[in-house]
Amino acid sequence: MNTEILRIIEGGLTNDKRKVISYSNRLADRLSQEGDTVFAACIRKKIEDTNVRPSVVADALRNAPLDLDSRLQIVEVIPPAESVNKIILNSLTQSQIEEFVNIVRNSSKLEVQGLDIPKTLILYGQPGCGKTSIAHYISNQTGLPLILARLDSLVSSLLGSTAKNIRKIFDYAGEFPSILFLDEFDAIAKARDDQKEIGELKRVINSLLQNMDAMPKHCVLIAATNHPELLDRAVWRRFLQKVEVKMPKDKELVDLIRLFCGEDQDKIADLILNTKGMINLFEEISPSDMKNLFDRAKVKGILEGQNDLSISHLLFSIYELQNGEKSEDEFILYLKSKGLTQRAINELTGISLRKIKSLTANK
Ligand SMILES: Nc1ncnc2c1ncn2[C@@H]1O[C@H](COP(=O)(O)OP(=O)(O)O)[C@@H](O)[C@H]1O
Ligand SMILES: [Mg+2]
Repeated sequence: MNTEILRIIEGGLTNDKRKVISYSNRLADRLSQEGDTVFAACIRKKIEDTNVRPSVVADALRNAPLDLDSRLQIVEVIPPAESVNKIILNSLTQSQIEEFVNIVRNSSKLEVQGLDIPKTLILYGQPGCGKTSIAHYISNQTGLPLILARLDSLVSSLLGSTAKNIRKIFDYAGEFPSILFLDEFDAIAKARDDQKEIGELKRVINSLLQNMDAMPKHCVLIAATNHPELLDRAVWRRFLQKVEVKMPKDKELVDLIRLFCGEDQDKIADLILNTKGMINLFEEISPSDMKNLFDRAKVKGILEGQNDLSISHLLFSIYELQNGEKSEDEFILYLKSKGLTQRAINELTGISLRKIKSLTANK
């Protein structure tokens, strides 16, 4: 305890706010371990209430850790965004995320009650469903900067020193109130395929486990992965909250279509949603792909001189994405197989009703 107090004094005398905060947090951790949760919470509240965050983040940006060999920064510090894009999630996922935000926001209050729980969350699910966006959302909701470490680049380019770099990242994240965000987390496990790297990989995983275990209680850790099945079980177990971010369906699809059509485009969204079979086209397409499809259809619409997005272009690009083909006949059959009527296909694509009828007559 004396060490922490001395470091806080040093930090104060040398105007090093980061040091003051870092050691005050450690002091609070220690007090809390020793049972003085009330004073620990007092210290944390003081840190939270004092408006030093912006300058601490700026200071942290200058001192972000570097890889010793390449001299490149191994993390990116992202201040909490003032606003974030709307994310559409199913109600279970939404409530799990809100619960995590609440725990982080009220951690001092919980600590006073003796509920000093680890703030660790792993997000998993298919690519393009919102995991990275959720981490930014949590940063926005808690006002904490994200310390983003993309493990894919860390592991692939610097295998020899990855374990050391992981240590640096955790140390750095412990120095000031922040969220450590380990994106593309499976990159660590993927290296297992490479026989030469097995020894190194063990070191990396051990280093990760050690650092997670030694993580001070005030730290917030979020990891995201597209391949939970590749993760080391011991690493997986370390996360208190595990949240699956699923492909959208039903109500989420409707909300996403409205979101990506954009404001003032209710008419076009209504047209899409009221056309029989149309919603089936979006099944198995990730929100990220959906956004791209809508954006491209909007560009096309504008270039063609319409105010709205080009529905025919939207339909054709969905067909292309799903089938990788470019035949008009196959396109018509595809739309029909999804449940669109002959008339709807004619009205939305401009293809002649006669052609549609003759092609789909026996289907
Ligand atoms: N659930 C969602 N709701 C709204 N937009 C989404 C959603 N998921 C993804 N997007 C869009 O796709 C983009 C990429 O998603 P991202 O969060 O990077 O997905 P992941 O990390 O799961 O691969 C986002 O910036 C956003 O525009
Ligand atoms: Mg991502």
